[in-house]
Amino acid sequence: MMSSNQQEIPFIKLNKEEVQNFIDLIHKQYGSKPIIEYRYNFIKETSKVLIPLNQKYFNEIKSLLEEMPSIDHKIIYGNATINPKFKYKTIADVLKEDLPNWPSHLIPKSYDIIGSIAIVEFANLNNFSKRKKLLFKKCVAKAITIVNRSINSVYEKVSQIQGKYRLRKLKLLYGIDNPETIHKENYAIFKINVKKAYFTPRLVNERKKIANTPIDIGELIVDMFAGVGPFSIQIAMKHNVKIYAFDINTDAYRYLKENISLNQVESKIFPYNIDSKKLLESGNQLGTSLKGKIDRIIMNLPEKSLEFLDVACFLLKKKGGIIHNYQFSPKPNSIELAIEKLNQHLTHYQYQIKKIIRAEIVKSYSPSSELISLDIKVTS
Ligand SMILES: C[S@@+](CC[C@H](N)C(=O)[O-])C[C@H]1O[C@@H](n2cnc3c(N)ncnc32)[C@H](O)[C@@H]1O
Repeated sequence: MMSSNQQEIPFIKLNKEEVQNFIDLIHKQYGSKPIIEYRYNFIKETSKVLIPLNQKYFNEIKSLLEEMPSIDHKIIYGNATINPKFKYKTIADVLKEDLPNWPSHLIPKSYDIIGSIAIVEFANLNNFSKRKKLLFKKCVAKAITIVNRSINSVYEKVSQIQGKYRLRKLKLLYGIDNPETIHKENYAIFKINVKKAYFTPRLVNERKKIANTPIDIGELIVDMFAGVGPFSIQIAMKHNVKIYAFDINTDAYRYLKENISLNQVESKIFPYNIDSKKLLESGNQLGTSLKGKIDRIIMNLPEKSLEFLDVACFLLKKKGGIIHNYQFSPKPNSIELAIEKLNQHLTHYQYQIKKIIRAEIVKSYSPSSELISLDIKVTS
């Protein structure tokens, strides 16, 4: 009886000395077509080697061998066993076997990995029938799990990031429907529900930069849009500071609290489930107690951060402090434009730019705009 990792397939049986000639011939003739099944073990006998072949291309190989009678060979069928060391490098490699004729430019080149979850986006597939589209998407999703063995669930992005909680709609394509996972980033761990709270692994370097920036002992910091806590927690793990972390989304706040304790920074981060604007309201106790006391503010809400500069200036010390500001800014000159807009808003609240510590394009956001990161020293 065949075990689950065995399969009956054709092998070509060659003299040991002929093996390299045969492999070279196949590569020369077929390029990257998966004629030889490297995912199965080669079988070695005393003077012979059995090379596993792809059943799909078997007729092509047979006619090639007929034209090349100089290679002394025999075709035999036998049980193939999985080569445990074999790894597919890309989803395109896997799809060569399952969907050999699919246009390669439609295969997603990248996808986000958050813990055991992959999130993938597809190009426009409107030229295909509903059935073909779904088959392709499921094959891509399965291929992602073959390339990355730690992925248990593959979701498709089915909307833009939207609403005040900055969430997007996700649809399960393959695996277990469990949107909660544990994600490691730099030296911290995060429990995240990808459907209920915002998180992107694409800011990993940004968070590293901010956490590695020189921060004075005892600084008071506000993370105005903290999400599940990636900025706050990575700063708190490196510096002796106090961080007030706010988020309006109750689910994000729940994960923020859990992540604070998972990373053992309870004595440094104080989470609040609030709308940061509310700090300005007269009678808001938290706002009153933090007014004019803050050294550093993180403002990672790129589409609206400028609208919250009133809150930032209300919280900052009168002598000034540092703002880590994120904005989506139109191309070209996205950086200059982002600095100009920030300055205009600061002037309105009687603050000004003292020094631009860092101004960078983090990534492209749309064909016409970029995500800009600004580390700015401001003074009143
Ligand atoms: C772009 S996400 C950034 C989250 C986090 N900083 C990160 O890097 O993963 C923005 C977050 O701001 C929160 N948010 C939006 N408006 C808010 C407001 N008025 N007050 C507090 N939080 C807000 C959203 O719920 C969301 O979690």
